[in-house]
Amino acid sequence: MSIIADDNDFKTIRAKEEKNPIVEPEESDTDRNFENTIRPKSFDSYIGQAGIKDTLKITIQAAKKREMPLDHLLFYGPPGLGKTTLAGVIAQEMGADIKITSAPALERPRDIVGILMSLKGGEILFIDEIHRLNRVTEEILYPAMEDFYLDMTTGKSQTVKTLRLPLPKFTLIGATTKAGELSGPLRDRFGIIHRLEFYSQDELAQVVERTADILKIEIDEAGAYAIAKRSRGTPRIANRLVKRVSDYALVKHNGKITESVANKSLDILKIDEFGLDTTDRNLLKLIIDKYDGGPVGIETIAAALGEDVRTLEDVCEPFLLQAGLLQRTPRGRKVSPAGYRHLGYKNISDQQSLF
Ligand code: ADE
Repeated sequence: MSIIADDNDFKTIRAKEEKNPIVEPEESDTDRNFENTIRPKSFDSYIGQAGIKDTLKITIQAAKKREMPLDHLLFYGPPGLGKTTLAGVIAQEMGADIKITSAPALERPRDIVGILMSLKGGEILFIDEIHRLNRVTEEILYPAMEDFYLDMTTGKSQTVKTLRLPLPKFTLIGATTKAGELSGPLRDRFGIIHRLEFYSQDELAQVVERTADILKIEIDEAGAYAIAKRSRGTPRIANRLVKRVSDYALVKHNGKITESVANKSLDILKIDEFGLDTTDRNLLKLIIDKYDGGPVGIETIAAALGEDVRTLEDVCEPFLLQAGLLQRTPRGRKVSPAGYRHLGYKNISDQQSLF
């Protein structure tokens, strides 16, 4: 198993081989490289989440004064808001190494045992999508998190023996988009729990300007705001749009992103003034046109749209709910009056779209 040190500043350790569970989930290498290039490495360059940053700074200073590792931390919230980035920043600020993995990569007990046994004192272990851990892996983690030991069993039936292997004191940082799916015992083992919030337009405009600066893309303030407005409160989306709009600016104009260049380019990408894409709009339209505005179950919606339930729940819904366009009821999803208006329906009873 070869574990290699990444070339970025937070001494991230990543996998080279497929079998190595130290990986980041479900992203292409290109996406990952792009994200790594622009990832902030310190609190100073990390924009947004001000409240979380302030409390984390104190926690980190206290841990350093005590010469103890940080308590285990859990970050939850919609995807793309910077949970992995924040873990990297924490490692950098603690002067600690970080190993990054995700729950789906920890299939067999030996995956998590191997990682735990390779940790050094003070090191940070980041587990993404931690709500997807299987029960056996989770149970191996309990004593490791609580008392820093591993319970190993040897022998068979009557000769079975339990060995307690001490582990170095480490910090587990878990990230999840679904805090509600975490088991109680696992959640209770995190000393610090933070919910990441969607970013304001001002914060996203700063993210856009910072990214453009790193990528040497010319942009003015109004151009940055035009992209920020359509980024669904999510820096990962803002950063991807910077690239797409920059392509358009380069091919169709002189390379500079202005408000009108950004708006034209985003119109072509079919990203509307709220940041909704075709899938989001199709979801709302389906509920209105076929289910009278709802309520309708998410499985029915997914089947009708030919989308995966998890994609709808994790990627589309959080922003639609937060923007007040969609509502979740015990009987399923409902389009709100604002959702009707956004799609150009005059009112709830008028199901004839104006477009
Ligand atoms: N890129 C992605 N997330 C960011 C953040 N929170 N601050 C600055 N740049 C970012």
